[in-house]
Amino acid sequence: MATGQPEPATPTNKPRNAANRAYGIDIGGSGIKGAVVDVRTGKLLTDRARRDTPQPSDPDAVAEVVAELVAGHGWTGEIGATFPAVVQHGVTLSAANVDKAWIGADADALFTKVTDQDVLVINDADAAGLAEARFGAAKGVDGVVIVLTLGTGIGSALLHNGVLVPNTELGHLELDGKDAERRAASSARERHGLSWSDWAKRVEHYLEHVERLFTPDLFVLGGGVSKRSDKWLHHVDIRTPITTAKLLNDAGIVGAALAANEHFEE
Ligand code: BGC
Repeated sequence: MATGQPEPATPTNKPRNAANRAYGIDIGGSGIKGAVVDVRTGKLLTDRARRDTPQPSDPDAVAEVVAELVAGHGWTGEIGATFPAVVQHGVTLSAANVDKAWIGADADALFTKVTDQDVLVINDADAAGLAEARFGAAKGVDGVVIVLTLGTGIGSALLHNGVLVPNTELGHLELDGKDAERRAASSARERHGLSWSDWAKRVEHYLEHVERLFTPDLFVLGGGVSKRSDKWLHHVDIRTPITTAKLLNDAGIVGAALAANEHFEE
């Protein structure tokens, strides 16, 4: 535009898209968080904005929050979002701890529509696994690594030489005739009022089961309880080395951004 006026300066308080940045959104049962991520370093480039997950957490209500977070950061560009369910090619196929209306929903298409940007949706634990493999506790670890997030449910990510096999859903293995996450997720400790050591023994029993099936080289344990591992981890005695997650609150956001960046890059 030849107006003779100088071009307006790009506002410095707004993150601009560049090939090494992507927006990450972490959708959980209680909160939805978003930030711009530097995908080369795994660092957040903005504050981590958070909204409560709407109740009921049906697709349209969640999509509205997703659009609000992205607009709040003034973001245009690739977006990665996590979802706490099986996600195949952008479609959510289960809903263990979220509104059942998500079963069969095209989350990818819905979020793409409300944000008007390219969006990739992946399972929440898979995102955490990718982030830990690239920047955290599983960085540079060869062989089979299993990342487990112990929260309301149990999420799992299976990695081989850093490459993810998605949607393993090991939280739903059968353990003592029950869904494993009902026995060993951190919510089970709260629900049954278990001591740290009693709960740790349940985690041990669960890990032994997973160990027999996959013979991993390393377990990475994440979720809120990983911050309090001094209370319980020493009660867990299994053959496979165990370490705690390094990215903690940011793993989902970082992993989602990373996955989107790799997916959409040409
Ligand atoms: C879901 C998984 C999810 C995990 C952690 C499980 O109940 O089935 O898809 O990764 O919870 O949110």
